[in-house]
Order: sequence, then structure tokens, then C-alpha cells
Amino acid sequence: MGTIENPPLLDVKNLRVTFDTPEGDVTAVSNLNFDLRVGETLGIVGESGSGKSQTDYALMGLLANNGYIGGSARFNGRELINLPENQLNKLRAQEMAMIFQDPMTSLNPYMRVGEQLVEVLMLHKKMSKSAAFAESVQMLDAVKMPEARKRMRMYPHEFSGGMRQRVMIAMDLLCRPKLLIADEPTTALDVTVQAQIMMLLNELKREFNTAIIMITHDLGVVASICNKVLVMYAGRTMEYGSAREVFYHSSHPYSIGLLNALARLDTEGEALMTIPGNPPNLLRLPQGCPFQPRCPHAMAQCESAPPLEPFAQGRLRACFKPLEALI
Ligand SMILES: Nc1ncnc2c1ncn2[C@@H]1O[C@H](COP(=O)(O)OP(=O)(O)OP(=O)(O)O)[C@@H](O)[C@H]1O
Ligand SMILES: [Mg+2]
Repeated sequence: MGTIENPPLLDVKNLRVTFDTPEGDVTAVSNLNFDLRVGETLGIVGESGSGKSQTDYALMGLLANNGYIGGSARFNGRELINLPENQLNKLRAQEMAMIFQDPMTSLNPYMRVGEQLVEVLMLHKKMSKSAAFAESVQMLDAVKMPEARKRMRMYPHEFSGGMRQRVMIAMDLLCRPKLLIADEPTTALDVTVQAQIMMLLNELKREFNTAIIMITHDLGVVASICNKVLVMYAGRTMEYGSAREVFYHSSHPYSIGLLNALARLDTEGEALMTIPGNPPNLLRLPQGCPFQPRCPHAMAQCESAPPLEPFAQGRLRACFKPLEALI
């Protein structure tokens, strides 16, 4: 939907991910639509199993072998879906990068951090060793790594979790990607460090003009650093809109449930109020709206699936309950 002057960097249309399993087909992501412009941050939020990671794996070409993708995802004008492996590899190395929950899975434990950074630049940017070294130190500085030069000589296990995540972010940014996908980059870290990493990503986004897809359980994170949010449940979009609007004026009972759970987290001593019940088994989805069995507002009408419809500027929701009745 972009204008000629500012077309979307990433334009996802009817994205669908289906897994072939012994018990039948499982649709983990169902007709997802969103777009992302240069420098924007999109939050994808939902409970465990809602399809957040499979969405990003589909974009990065990292689906399991039994997974099939439908729909389209245009990145910088180029179709990502079913792109040949060699072209995808090139894109992944240079234009799109991903931060995983556990940085240890992407770092080589037997190589000094500096060598790993230098290698990336020599391979993908064809830099000389000394230029790559200087650039790597500079990037570690940019991610606020204390004593960057000294740290170049250290091995990944010598870093704390938060510092390791900074190394990963530095490594991802070396090739100046246009898009960074962060899949719950801070869930393994303690709360203070989580906040520092989120602030850092927010600063780096401005400095490097990178678009970010931030995958998280936490609507609070989304409100603080994202421009737009997609709330997912059982692989479907429940609502979509600007982060501010979705946070302050949620239009879907599921988002309201996520927010209530969040509010209780700040209240010391109080038990965490999660949404009662569990997300459905994708092989046995309920009739109609997938959230209906857990929804405090469910009505007979919800036995048929509510369509995802626009209701205000830039906002979409899939719910039959009138908005006024939710407030
Ligand atoms: N290879 C596979 N075969 C069958 N089903 C799969 C496969 N991989 C993932 N799934 C299913 O896809 C669904 C969505 O998973 P996904 O990893 O995207 O969830 P998520 O939202 O990232 O959850 P979490 O917050 O726990 O990371 C899950 O129900 C999962 O069981
Ligand atoms: Mg996940």
C-alpha cells in the first residue's frame, strides 16, 4: 500500500505456513498481511504457539522440511517466497539479519568473538583483515560494549548473557542490513538487562535506519519501541494497528487479556493474571473465532469466524463484539 516515494521495504500478503504432520495438516500461520517501511519497527505479539516464529522463519527461509509457504512476501521489491537458496543466502547475509533468543546458538564457541566479527566483514564486504578489525571494534562500541578492543580477544562463554546478545547484534549490523528480525531477543535475560537491550535496539534503529520486526510476548515492549503491532492468536491476526493505538485502545478481547496479564506483572506480590485456559491445538481448532473458548465476550455469533476488517485509519480487527462494549 506504499506510495511511489516510500514503498514498503517488506510487503507481506496472505502469508500462510502449513506443516504436513502424521495427524494431518497444521496451519501455523493463516493469511497474514502487513507491511514495513524503512526505519519502522513492527511488533508481533501473542502467546506461545501463536505462529510468531514460523512467520519469521517463513520470511528468512528457515522453515522445517515439513513446512509449506503460501502467499507473498516482497522484500525491497523482490519476492522472498521460494527464492532459490543461493539468492536467499546472499540476502540473509547482507540485507536481512536475525537475532535469536539464545545468542550461543549463533556464535561459534571455539572462536574468539573478534575473529567471528572480522570473518563476516572479510567474507561479505571483502574487507582487508585490518580494516575489518577496526570496523568490528567500532561496531562493538556502537552496541555499547565496554572495552571493545579487549573483548575482541575473548570467547563467547566469557561474556554475560546480555553482553553476548550485544555481540550478536553487532554481528548482525556489520553488513548494515535493511531488516532485522529479533525473535524474543531478551527472554533469556533478567529484566534490567532486557530493558537495556531494548533501548539499545531502539537507538541502533535510528543510527542505522534499520527496519525491525520485534517478536515478543510482551505488549509493554511493543508499546515502548514499536510503530506498529500485529497481535496473533492460533496463527491468525486478531488485531493490527499503530503500537500506541493497540496499547492504549485495544480493540480485541485477546489483546486486552494480554495487557491485563502485563499490568499484574508490575504489581509486586500479586500473582500473574494470565488469560484463563490455553491456546488451542492447531489440529483441533474451535469453530469460528479461535479465541472464542477463552473469550469473556464470546457470543453465539463467534461460532463463525469474524473477518479481519478495517474499523479506523490503519487499524484492523477480527471480532464481532462492538468496540464500545469492550471499553
Ligand atoms: N515442524 C513442525 N511441524 C508441525 N508443527 C509445527 C512445526 N514447527 C512448528 N509447528 C507448530 O507451529 C505453531 C506455531 O509455532 P511458533 O513457533 O511460530 O510459535 P511462537 O508464537 O513463536 O511461540 P513461542 O512464543 O513459544 O516461541 C505451534 O503450534 C507449533 O507446534
Ligand atoms: Mg517463537
